[in-house]
Amino acid sequence: MEKNYNNYQLLGIIGNPLRQSLSPILHNYWMKKYDINGVYIPICLENISKINTALKSLNFKGLNVTIPFKKKIIPHLDIVDKDAKKLEAVNTIVNIKGKLKGYNTDLYGFSVGLEKAKKWNPENPVVIIGAGGASEAAIAGVLKLGATKIFIMNRTVSKILTLTKKYKNVKKADWLCPKTIKSAGLFINTTSLGMRGYSEIPIKKDVFNKNVVIYDIVYNPLETKLIKLAKQSNLSFIQGMDMFVNQAAKSFSLWFGKNPSISSHTKQLIKNNLFKK
Ligand code: ATR
Repeated sequence: MEKNYNNYQLLGIIGNPLRQSLSPILHNYWMKKYDINGVYIPICLENISKINTALKSLNFKGLNVTIPFKKKIIPHLDIVDKDAKKLEAVNTIVNIKGKLKGYNTDLYGFSVGLEKAKKWNPENPVVIIGAGGASEAAIAGVLKLGATKIFIMNRTVSKILTLTKKYKNVKKADWLCPKTIKSAGLFINTTSLGMRGYSEIPIKKDVFNKNVVIYDIVYNPLETKLIKLAKQSNLSFIQGMDMFVNQAAKSFSLWFGKNPSISSHTKQLIKNNLFKK
């Protein structure tokens, strides 16, 4: 069939690196399924200083934003949705009649995954590693469920201090401090560690208490060292697939006004394309 390039919709993802991202596979699959005439492309950038003009000139319909730009993108947008503004993190951009509006769909995706943490009691401490855009979605997600003690650990300490000032119940902890990790009822990885192309979290299995729920938001690979360790020790765990697919579905509905289906076939498609060690 001949391609119709009139009203051809351009979408994509900006980040660096992007080799771990399966967003192009998932969105192109949904676009085909829902008869959307267009393409979703990976755009690996060093610098986003001209992104506003670039997206408008090329008439991009929308964009996802990933590491390390979720916070850095904000000054380049024309409008920021109020929830994204609160989190100071944007992972989705919609071109609305020539104005670029930023949204955060990570909080929604994170919260869908968190529904699986049945064993977690919000009165027990939450330990979050990482202090970037995804970390704020995790903080907001656990606060919504009534978390009372949240400890943040991050390689760059100054980023933790921004979070402790902004959120009540959030405290700074030393990077991978065993005593703090042992106290965790919920342990969340929001760093890039464990992701394709990065090293694993340098952590040992006896560091956790047996009632902990481990939530790794990394989805590529699905079996990070952290998840393997949870399985070996019979600990409850949540993998990154739910957050990934659900944040993507919400982005898709912002662009196209349709909720795409999340079927076993959708998840299989992702699994088939995962990085295998
Ligand atoms: P975004 O805001 O787009 O999510 P980010 O701010 O780069 O991106 O967040 C990535 C997180 O992974 C940060 O917490 C980062 O730690 P730093 O704040 O110290 O950069 C963490 N991270 C990335 N690589 C890491 C590594 N090798 N060791 C420890 N933490 C790492």
